[in-house]
Amino acid sequence: MITSSMQINPPDYVNNKKLIQWVQETADLCQPDVVCWCDGSQEEYDTLCQQMVESGTFIKLSEETRPNSYLCRSDPSDVARVEDRTYICSLRRQDAGPTNNWVAPREMKETLKGLFSGCMKGRTMYVIPFSMGPLGSPIAHIGVEISDSPYVVTNMRIMTRMGRKVLELLGDNGEFVPCLHSVGAPLHPGTADVPWPCNDKKYIVHFPEERSIVSFGSGYGGNALLGKKCFALRIASSMARDEGWLAEHMLILGVESPEGEKTYVGAAFPSACGKTNFAMLIPPHSFEGWKVTTIGDDIAWIKPGADGRLHAINPEYGFFGVAPGTSEKSNPNAMATLGKNCIFTNVAMTPDGDVWWEGMTDAPPDELIDWQGNRWTPDCGRVSSHPNARFTSPASQCPSLDPDWEDPKGVPISAFIFGGRRGDTVPLVYQSANWNFGVYLAATMGSEKTAAAAGKIGEVRRDPFAMIPFCGYHMGDYFNHWLHVGRTLLEPPRIFGVNWFRKDENGKFLWPGFGDNMRVLKWIVDRVRGNAAAIESPLGWMPKYDAIDWTGLDEMTSEKFSKLMSVDREAWKKELLSHEELFALIYDRLPKEFTHIRELMLSTLWLSPEHWSLAPERYAVEN
Ligand code: GTP
Ligand code: SPV
Ligand code: MN
Repeated sequence: MITSSMQINPPDYVNNKKLIQWVQETADLCQPDVVCWCDGSQEEYDTLCQQMVESGTFIKLSEETRPNSYLCRSDPSDVARVEDRTYICSLRRQDAGPTNNWVAPREMKETLKGLFSGCMKGRTMYVIPFSMGPLGSPIAHIGVEISDSPYVVTNMRIMTRMGRKVLELLGDNGEFVPCLHSVGAPLHPGTADVPWPCNDKKYIVHFPEERSIVSFGSGYGGNALLGKKCFALRIASSMARDEGWLAEHMLILGVESPEGEKTYVGAAFPSACGKTNFAMLIPPHSFEGWKVTTIGDDIAWIKPGADGRLHAINPEYGFFGVAPGTSEKSNPNAMATLGKNCIFTNVAMTPDGDVWWEGMTDAPPDELIDWQGNRWTPDCGRVSSHPNARFTSPASQCPSLDPDWEDPKGVPISAFIFGGRRGDTVPLVYQSANWNFGVYLAATMGSEKTAAAAGKIGEVRRDPFAMIPFCGYHMGDYFNHWLHVGRTLLEPPRIFGVNWFRKDENGKFLWPGFGDNMRVLKWIVDRVRGNAAAIESPLGWMPKYDAIDWTGLDEMTSEKFSKLMSVDREAWKKELLSHEELFALIYDRLPKEFTHIRELMLSTLWLSPEHWSLAPERYAVEN
């Protein structure tokens, strides 16, 4: 820029030339009325919330039942991530790979320049410095988001470590990932604002070589809170590939035995498939002395340590969780986390100023205002909350939070768990023979689509590592990177597959799930520690009926368990064929291991009965 009309007035603690220059250029391009450098203070947060209450974006909830909390209703056209508008603009098309949208960076930058030109007119441009990971941790990284959305500022303050101290840490020459965001709705003089400004044109764009992000048109979730999926997964996965670590769509939890032994695991389930529930699991009564602690519910950054093991941190500072289905029964820890200081988006409101959503209580309230602001009654034939309605809540309020959750070194990971939403075919739990077979298991994971993304709900899609929407580079290279990381470890974590969602002939879940997932988790922990028996199945190691503690769960007879664990040859032949579809897509960068592993799996299936099961009479004979 040669001349500049815009005053950006950086505070005196900002000395980073690259940052000041980027803010200046952005202000000149977007032409906001004002530039605001966010300091992350409580006063700033409260002021923004108050302003949003006045503008109609926020509704303050009852101070008695939900202190310092707000409800927000998005535009009905802006309710989830937009995968078809998400781009990885690497210099070369083949580096984005066949599972990402790609446009040449130069061409995309031209388009974005047009869209961003004057796009913040009439608005405030916020500069939001944030750290993904504990400030100063060797695993953490800094980003700065520029956004014209006060909703984004307040959510970023909950979801990341945000504000002045980040800029102080950044110093004169520190590195940061620039994240530019606009809702794409300039306010012209004389026109009134709307509660949820957005634009029908949406672009969520990543430049992996530059390590920068540009997002236009949406104010919702992962589209707009750029520290989350855009930075912590798409850009970070590409950084991780270059630097020898992993950025994953995983929860991290700790399991503590009655003897005080601690085992940490990472688990990848696709969006809206139970990460938050699993991360905050409360064991059944019969598991006296066992405790599950939460490190994170959505994203893990995992680096090899000097001890030859993998160490993980949660780069986030809060939870942006699916609200519907969350209840005292399904997730009491989440409910406790939601008691105060939260933002609720697209849920329903009760007449006394509290929130409600489908599944929160058995019986719905007699009357509500639904997520679109209309009167709602139980018989009106509509849901009251959007299926992808979310809460934003500070992690620090979670009762199950692990005491070491902010340890800058991270926690040592002993097992990885991968699980999709599968009504059929896939058993409750199995363990891969070794790291490579485990990588194959994760790479070929399938899941039925949920409301967290666009598309036909219920359809099975391959979702390798639960990363299909989040991998910032070629999926084939990603598989190879995982295989490579395993070869560098002294003690690679064991890898397991799970499926909480298998159904019977009548479409009923065969597995109770939620707290009872502890039974499976304990077997996994026992396996990792060499304490649990397992038998060979066509897919890997499996628990026998009596290897799992069933106390208090009378419904789980050995027959029902066999059904949950059965491996049907025809179904798995189909499954393996659909792996081929993924392989054909990735073919020029597919790890050579995968074709061999697929053949081995096929040959193992043919060695097994047509309907392989754990039925007692079968393994009685085998032993
Ligand atoms: P993102 O935040 O979108 O990445 O997803 P998440 O994996 O954290 O999703 P979340 O835990 O919020 O998943 C919510 C959905 O999973 C709800 O529909 C729950 O009812 C369902 N769910 C969670 N755990 C279980 C379980 O053990 N069994 C069954 N049947 N459903 C479960
Ligand atoms: C997901 O979709 O996996 C989420 C929600 O965790 S969002 O942050 O909107 O991507
Ligand atoms: Mn997620």
